[in-house]
Amino acid sequence: MRVLLTGGAGFIGSHIALLLLERGFDVIILDSFVNSSSIVINRIKTFLQNKDLKSKFEYIKGDIRDKNILDNIFIKSIKECKPIDTVIHLAGLKSVSDSLTNPLHYWDVNVRGTLNLLLSMKEYECYSLVFSSSATIYGLSDSVPMSEDHKILPINPYGQTKVAIENMFYDLFNSNIKLWKICSLRYFNPVGAHSSGLIGEDPVGIPNNLFPFLTQVAIGRQKILKVFGDDWDTKDGSGVRDYIHIIDLADGHLASIDYLNSNDSCLEFINLGSGHGYSVFQIIRQFELTTGRKIPFSIQGRRDGDVAKCYADISKAKKLLGWTPKRSLEQICLDGWNWQIKNPNGYC
Ligand code: NAD
Ligand code: UD1
Repeated sequence: MRVLLTGGAGFIGSHIALLLLERGFDVIILDSFVNSSSIVINRIKTFLQNKDLKSKFEYIKGDIRDKNILDNIFIKSIKECKPIDTVIHLAGLKSVSDSLTNPLHYWDVNVRGTLNLLLSMKEYECYSLVFSSSATIYGLSDSVPMSEDHKILPINPYGQTKVAIENMFYDLFNSNIKLWKICSLRYFNPVGAHSSGLIGEDPVGIPNNLFPFLTQVAIGRQKILKVFGDDWDTKDGSGVRDYIHIIDLADGHLASIDYLNSNDSCLEFINLGSGHGYSVFQIIRQFELTTGRKIPFSIQGRRDGDVAKCYADISKAKKLLGWTPKRSLEQICLDGWNWQIKNPNGYC
């Protein structure tokens, strides 16, 4: 089976790529490298050399807003008699704060880019899609755990673009072409790294998210972790989130492909999280315990747009996909730290 993986050089995509290749899929990565490094591709190739899988992998530098590039990928694969069976679509922009500054850019890349992709898929009769949506579409509510029928209430342009894309899926699914098979996966907080330490999360600039900030404090790239509020209505006053090991998350994509292959026309919105909520203080404590590193922190005011608690009800993913996350918070800390010490300055 051949998979087109857009955004495959990014944090989540690179981990999905390794899993797909390990399980025998042919993989084409399409990425513009706007938020990733081409070194990722070399790391994937290193991994493949070790496993003798090189011929199954190719990558193309390009933008999903360029329809010619997309069309050419589909045409070439048809000519090679190895048409693309499924697209895993991750390419897009993901910073909440950037989206507030540059909303049109987010609509252009995320929504127009996805529209382009869907047009090419339709044209070349590839109807099977796994998409990266986000728990951010559930907005400010902190009634937990959140199931898929939780109210959709995005509070920033980034979230709005994910909702707009999900709405496109509704329209496609309800059209008279009963061929589309789509899993829209709503991720909670993917963290950690591949256990090899070859690939991991390497945000550009100062990390916005807790986990990469924490590992950068541990390695000395950041001085001190700011804890955004200790007065939330949670067990210890700090914010509670659903941290899922990146490999468990990647596994959810393979389970989704299996699901799409064994079903006719379908559209499913599915939460991918660990199903557990951990507070910021719990994360700090577990990281210190696992790695033996002390994390200096200071308590700050609450961050705009934060909620007290957000974690997933994952019963749908378990039932529909037969998927269940297997890796503990300790494993997350071990693998995340292994990546950070092997790559103290990220990909460079
Ligand atoms: P990432 O930025 O590491 O990866 C996205 C990749 O897409 C990057 O390699 C980037 O270069 C590429 N890209 C961006 N715009 C492109 C374009 N126009 N054409 C081609 N490639 C382009 O982010 P990630 O964390 O791996 O996230 C992947 C997807 O998952 C995103 O769509 C994101 O919105 C979604 N998501 C991420 C999280 C998270 O916490 N990381 C949570 C929920 C949803
Ligand atoms: C954030 C985004 C969300 C996005 C998600 C994944 C905001 C308001 N929300 O979610 O839309 O889908 O990232 O990219 O930006 N924290 C600290 N100190 C830090 C960083 C975070 O205390 O330096 C706390 C936060 O207040 C929160 C928890 O750690 O309680 C997790 O934060 P983060 O990793 O940014 O994830 P989300 O808040 O879930």
